[in-house]
Amino acid sequence: MLDALNAIAQPAPAATGAISRHDYRPPAWLVPETRLVFDLDPAATRVTATLSVTRNDASGDPLRLDGAGQRPLAVRVDGVAIDDWRIEGEQLVVPLAGDAHTIETEVEIAPERNTQLMGLYASGGILCTQCEAEGFRRITYFPDRPDVLSRYAVRMVADAARYPVLLANGDPVAAGTLDDGRHWAEWNDPFPKPSYLFALVAGDLAVNRGQFTTQSGRGVDLGIWVRAGDVEKTRHALHALELAMAWDERVYGREYDLDVFNIVAVDDFNFGAMENKGLNIFNSRYILADPDTATDYDYDAIAAVVAHEYFHNWSGNRITCRDWFQLSLKEGFTVYRDQGFSADQGSAAVKRIEDVRGLRAAQFPEDAGPLAHPVRPESYIEIGNFYTATIYNKGAELIRMMATILGPQAFRAATDLYFTRFDGTAATCEDFVACMEEASGRDLTQFRLWYSQAGTPRVAASLSHQAGDGRATLRLAQHVPATPGQPDKQPMVLPLRIRVFGAETGRALGDEQLVLLDEAASTIVFDGITERPVLSVNRGFSAPVIIESDRSAADLAFLSAHDDDPFARYEAMQQLMLDTLVATTIEGRPDNDAVITAVANTLDDRTLDPAFVAEAVLLPSEGFIGDQLAMVDPEAIFRAREGLRRALGLRLADRWRDAYERAPDGPYVYSPAAKGHRRLRSVALGYIAASGADDAATIAFRQFERADNMTDRQGALGTLANGYSDEREAALDIFYHRYAGNSLVIDKWFQTQALSSRDDTGRLVADLARHPDFTLANPNRARALVGAFGANQRAFNAADGSGYRFLADQLIALDKLNPQTAAKLLPPLARWRRFDSDRAALMRGALERIVATPGLSKDVFEQASKSLG
Ligand code: PHE
Ligand code: ZN
Repeated sequence: MLDALNAIAQPAPAATGAISRHDYRPPAWLVPETRLVFDLDPAATRVTATLSVTRNDASGDPLRLDGAGQRPLAVRVDGVAIDDWRIEGEQLVVPLAGDAHTIETEVEIAPERNTQLMGLYASGGILCTQCEAEGFRRITYFPDRPDVLSRYAVRMVADAARYPVLLANGDPVAAGTLDDGRHWAEWNDPFPKPSYLFALVAGDLAVNRGQFTTQSGRGVDLGIWVRAGDVEKTRHALHALELAMAWDERVYGREYDLDVFNIVAVDDFNFGAMENKGLNIFNSRYILADPDTATDYDYDAIAAVVAHEYFHNWSGNRITCRDWFQLSLKEGFTVYRDQGFSADQGSAAVKRIEDVRGLRAAQFPEDAGPLAHPVRPESYIEIGNFYTATIYNKGAELIRMMATILGPQAFRAATDLYFTRFDGTAATCEDFVACMEEASGRDLTQFRLWYSQAGTPRVAASLSHQAGDGRATLRLAQHVPATPGQPDKQPMVLPLRIRVFGAETGRALGDEQLVLLDEAASTIVFDGITERPVLSVNRGFSAPVIIESDRSAADLAFLSAHDDDPFARYEAMQQLMLDTLVATTIEGRPDNDAVITAVANTLDDRTLDPAFVAEAVLLPSEGFIGDQLAMVDPEAIFRAREGLRRALGLRLADRWRDAYERAPDGPYVYSPAAKGHRRLRSVALGYIAASGADDAATIAFRQFERADNMTDRQGALGTLANGYSDEREAALDIFYHRYAGNSLVIDKWFQTQALSSRDDTGRLVADLARHPDFTLANPNRARALVGAFGANQRAFNAADGSGYRFLADQLIALDKLNPQTAAKLLPPLARWRRFDSDRAALMRGALERIVATPGLSKDVFEQASKSLG
């Protein structure tokens, strides 16, 4: 289904050069004003663009406008049609004599044939746009780079019955009807913006409206636009938006700046959501929720993404990026801001645990493999491949470290300075760090290495006790591993929050300290250590590093019970579990006692928040255990982990039943406390099932049937899906029929099966790929099945290579429709160096087959060729 437009749009990989950060040049031409007229039609949309252009340098260069997949139907300069334009590559080159002109172009595009979901496309009868990073060039000819800021006036004309709602950036200024059944609307955005923030939407949409008054008294009309039947499901998102607007005023002093703020939800979307100025467009999974169809996890994610996109209005839109190498300037900072928002809505400790778990699941493996790149990359072939956990989540950790080093007051002064100084401009990561320095008076020269050096630092930490002197000596040493293109690394600045506890009394021996480790090795001496000390290090995960400590199982168990930092307590338990699981994987002789005792103590401590307990008693994932090993043996890891789960389930059987029963009953409420109880209940159910108890499937099925909410229902379904009971088949069947037609819930049905720990998951997933409801055309569905399967370490890495073949087949098929989403499925294959030679050969074979595919996109080409290394 590769259509003609796509064929023009994609240069052959061989012709694809990498773009380097050092090649940045300011634009030769600026575009102060842009007027766009859209004659909207799914089969043929006419776009007329009128750009006022002004020369920005003395080069005398012609005007170069980016395009992709279209041809100019007409080009006019200062109102006169010209024919000395030419096409070079995909650029429209217009020779211009003077320093200021008006350029008008006309193109025709076909949104209904746009399967890559970049530019103007159709999703379920709605016409919508996605322009970040380089989608605007698929709509019209333009200098499609983030440092060209323009003021946009937009006119849309469309069939009034099919597209009764017409939205664009900024404020609505005029609307009317034509006598041929069409109507029109005009929107103006007073804020100059880069083309990647352009958006329009046309469709038959219903709205949930809200009102927000900003701190200076501006009234803002809020609107969340969805299909008519879904309005009831937007309440949570609207509430989250109102909370986020107030939070950004209170915490960062940032106020909204237009009279309207609109959000539109569409079903087909490559990412989570997009921060277009005044008109955010969302993947519907991050808007629609009610208790019957969305889990607590979904509710949390919706609030986080709504806040994230809203926060971009300042960190992204008012101040944008000079070039795409600076992507983390807006993404890292905005993730840091949304994490702070979410932390303030409930338990900050649990939020931090979730964020670190996410970082370890997605970013650490990236940093340790062939796709590793710095937070500010040096080069790329396709920028779409750099919307990564490194740019987003490690980028957020960098901001967090600066906030830790500066302290809250100086950090706020620094962000104020940044927002004031760079408002209305396209800035760099360097600009941000310079504000941090200027406002605090601190020198962050060495800290900047965090932006340029890839790889997760490893810190060896060893505490010794000189009992006679009442002293303890902490030796710290850091090592940043080699990554592609960066064989040698310099020591970084690592802010490590540290505290020492007494093993006998359980008391803290002195206050917490913030140690800035900025050399390869360093020694810290603690005085007044009158009993055997136990080290608590990297508390709160103050630096995104891997700690290698020689703490014994007893010390870790001690910290898991006594540390006053909840994150450190969680971390001690994780380390204890990890040490146990790694030892079992390698040696095959489990010694589970320390873990079982520590888990028992945690379950018995009634002072703890159930949400925290649920996190603390969960075992590290198979993938994370694999990441600790030079060679991943997926079967041995699975056996070790299942063995420990079973041992915990059996030895603590009464406690799991008690935890399961203890959760209060009653109708669904979304609150931190209620969420915590539900979470602990699902975790307890998992351990009851892991114990092999006869009644496990009965209990799970009863929970499945009685649940008045998706959290409990999906929790039970997930437990059943891992097993072989009749109840499993019944529950999957009931679930499927109950939610037939609700694509977001059917995604869960696919995903739950793809994540199953059953022995035959690979075969079941291959069958599901032939299910009538499976389609690669919808990114959510593709990720629910193929993406989830790639994350199922044991099933994906089946020794016969069937998992690799399946992924490669799906990826190659998807690449023809949607290269950006296809490329995101590839990373599981990039781990081949970590596997035995048989598996490695099979994985390489899959990658080589991908690279050899005719017509491959540069998105997939870049990921596959880098993975082969
Ligand atoms: N900028 C979006 C965000 O982080 C992500 C995105 C990137 C969406 C590219 C679409 C395309 O919020
Ligand atoms: Zn973002």
